Amino acid sequence: MNLNKVVCSCYKVTKGDVLKAVENGASSFKDVKKETKLGKACGKCKKKGKKLTKKLLSEQK
Ligand code: FES
Repeated sequence: MNLNKVVCSCYKVTKGDVLKAVENGASSFKDVKKETKLGKACGKCKKKGKKLTKKLLSEQK
């Protein structure tokens, strides 16, 4: 996974940022949004962000 890939272009949120949020205890897409601002402007990244969050959460132990 390329962690430098931007998921949300409005806030320049990268996959790495989402991963960090999950590692910091975010347990849902809502938490990730709160922590990274992903999806708070145009909203077009929401679908991608949600999918990525789900994937990262399933990889967390
Ligand atoms: S791309 Fe994420 S809010 Fe616009």
